Amino acid sequence: RYVGKRSCKKSRVNREVNKDSPKVVHSIDMEDIGSKAVYCRCWRSRKFPYCDGAHTKHNEETGDNVGPLIIKKRDA
Ligand code: FES
Repeated sequence: RYVGKRSCKKSRVNREVNKDSPKVVHSIDMEDIGSKAVYCRCWRSRKFPYCDGAHTKHNEETGDNVGPLIIKKRDA
């Protein structure tokens, strides 16, 4: 499939999170997670690094299929 020259330009994933930083890194201690944590992987959340559901709109607008990373403790 032919993709126009303009479309071939690589685009940025991160549009607005900590743009003044050379690299966006978050470190979270396992002890602080509690029973469940939901992390954003679409880079559109206003609560980044946590998911706020913005991926739904992103997927609708772009046809993408991204969703969060859910970390939870196994049920005992
Ligand atoms: Fe980004 Fe949910 S808001 S994965």
